Amino acid sequence: MSYYKIHDLENYFKMYKKSVREPRKFWDKIADDNFSWYQKWEKVFDFDFQEAKFRWFIDAKLNITKNCIDRHLARRGDKTAILFEPNNPDEEAQHITYNELYARVAKMANVLREQGVQKGDRVCIYLPMIPELAVAVLACARIGAVHSVVFAGFSASAVAARINDCDSKLVITSDGSYRGDKTIDLKSIVDEALEKAPGVEKVLVVKRTNTNVNMKEGRDIWLQPLLDEAIPNNVAEVMDAEDPLFILYTSGSTGKPKGMVHTTAGYMVYTAYTFKNIFNYEENDVYWCTADIGWITGHSYILYGPLLNGATTVMFEGVPSYPNFSRFWDIIEKHQVNQFYTAPTAIRSLAKESIDFVQKYPLKSLKVIGSVGEPINEEAWHWYNDHVGGKRCPLVDTWWQTETGGIMISPIPFITPTKPTYATLPLPGVQPVLMDELRNEIEGNQVTGSLCIKFPWPSMARTIWGDHQRFKETYFTAFPGKYFTGDGALRDEVGYYRITGRVDDVIIVSGHNLGTAPIEDAINEHPAVAESAIVGFPHDIKGNALYGFVILKETGEGRKQENLAIEINQLISDQVGPIAKLDKIQFVSGLPKTRSGKIMRRILRKIAEGDFSNFGDTSTLLNPECVEEIKNGKL
Ligand code: WT7
Repeated sequence: MSYYKIHDLENYFKMYKKSVREPRKFWDKIADDNFSWYQKWEKVFDFDFQEAKFRWFIDAKLNITKNCIDRHLARRGDKTAILFEPNNPDEEAQHITYNELYARVAKMANVLREQGVQKGDRVCIYLPMIPELAVAVLACARIGAVHSVVFAGFSASAVAARINDCDSKLVITSDGSYRGDKTIDLKSIVDEALEKAPGVEKVLVVKRTNTNVNMKEGRDIWLQPLLDEAIPNNVAEVMDAEDPLFILYTSGSTGKPKGMVHTTAGYMVYTAYTFKNIFNYEENDVYWCTADIGWITGHSYILYGPLLNGATTVMFEGVPSYPNFSRFWDIIEKHQVNQFYTAPTAIRSLAKESIDFVQKYPLKSLKVIGSVGEPINEEAWHWYNDHVGGKRCPLVDTWWQTETGGIMISPIPFITPTKPTYATLPLPGVQPVLMDELRNEIEGNQVTGSLCIKFPWPSMARTIWGDHQRFKETYFTAFPGKYFTGDGALRDEVGYYRITGRVDDVIIVSGHNLGTAPIEDAINEHPAVAESAIVGFPHDIKGNALYGFVILKETGEGRKQENLAIEINQLISDQVGPIAKLDKIQFVSGLPKTRSGKIMRRILRKIAEGDFSNFGDTSTLLNPECVEEIKNGKL
């Protein structure tokens, strides 16, 4: 019996128990049966929670792209690996076969080597959702370079900060990108970023929009002519199981983004295993995840997970609202998509439009539908389940994080009965626990607490690039001996998990994970601002929107507050990105603080939500009088 695929509920529970009782045997078999290795491991794993050190498949040698591409060529060479659907529906879709993907990745790998990229070097990829993005990612992995994909919606300063943090010498970008009816000049954003990132020596530029760009002599090179000259063959680099595969930045509670480092073998094994089970992928299926490859969802479940399984994975360049609100359903019908994976924010934005946009499509090809990124509220769950899944497709609500590398808690379709708003049960190999404030594990069901994972799993992040101390402190100190997720959760009467949301300073807006600190830093740079605090408040479509409380300096008085609000949002947009703009800005004369100087966000959150009923314990407040003023001025 292969443990790779779960067959029924009984088999799930059996496997789950086995994975807890004999984790070495469990993972050893999965890794042994399903991948190609240059050399097998000495030991399945070892770990030290105190030092936050984790190693998997120790001393094994492999290359993940051999597993994603080469080993499929004999049987699936002519099968579509990547199905590219362009932004403009009139432009033809591209079916990139495994054979073609091999040649394109090999060429790109050879170009990167010619440009001096070596094993271990970091390459920053700032590209829209076009095939070159997938090819660039895989080409880095092919030669052992560490890819750092930066979402192409990020601003120049966010790009610069990420490039500098991991010291990338080479950037891959494009002239521009299409998003709905807009064209965005990506290259000029990179140009601006590089003024603040002087370490970059080369920029390879993909032509996508034919936008006029400025090419800096000696630094910027058009990519296509280099690819045309390159050889379509490449010998993959031999990588150690624990060599870094990629860095992906996520926000934290300080201004500096955290470069989460994922390594090779554990990430490969876990993303492949979860993809197969959670999407129930079968050989001729067409699978589509609507995320951007700039996020972990795209890394694990557009590229690596599907390709490791020899799947056909759709890559969509555009947005759900262009040319109209039927675009998703149109693509599902056009390509006969079998598995569809998207975010609650997308569902909510489509659910508010006329039902006709979805109802005119039969969507009979769909077998499984999935959700990821934030809690899916009951209304959105039903809309998705009824109108997209036709009440016939299991809806998998998948809980996981950039840090976990792969899906941790999720129903297994056709096996785990679903329940609205519940991510349900952990995957075999995953050991979630709920903790109380006294750091005790909460046993039993019908309880809530802080969600931790008490045993290592293969795809867990290994460190924060350049700052292991921060890794330790952020994830392994609040609850010693456990990984702390930052989320709160509830366990119901049958042991199903429901994620209730962040318990830290992260706010999820339209599925984007935003730290409060970098946004407050941006606001505070405005010359008229003395201090600020932001909190989230419920929003019909975005899930949460941002509410800012801002104290102005003396000099700020007399200026028009409307103008200040616009300027503040412009600063945020420039420094963090447009997604982080505030929906509401209230100017106040003080912020509620504890005696130790910490802003009591709990109170601000309540006010922003419009709930003045109970602010909890306010006895430690230094300046309770400001609460009244803030309440009266609520927007
Ligand atoms: C945070 C991680 C992992 C993919 C995208 C987000 C929230 C994610 C769910 C879900 C409730 C969810 C959590 C988590 N989250 N999926 N199914 N139900 N909450 O990755 O940006 O690292 O964010 O997203 O709060 O901690 P990320």
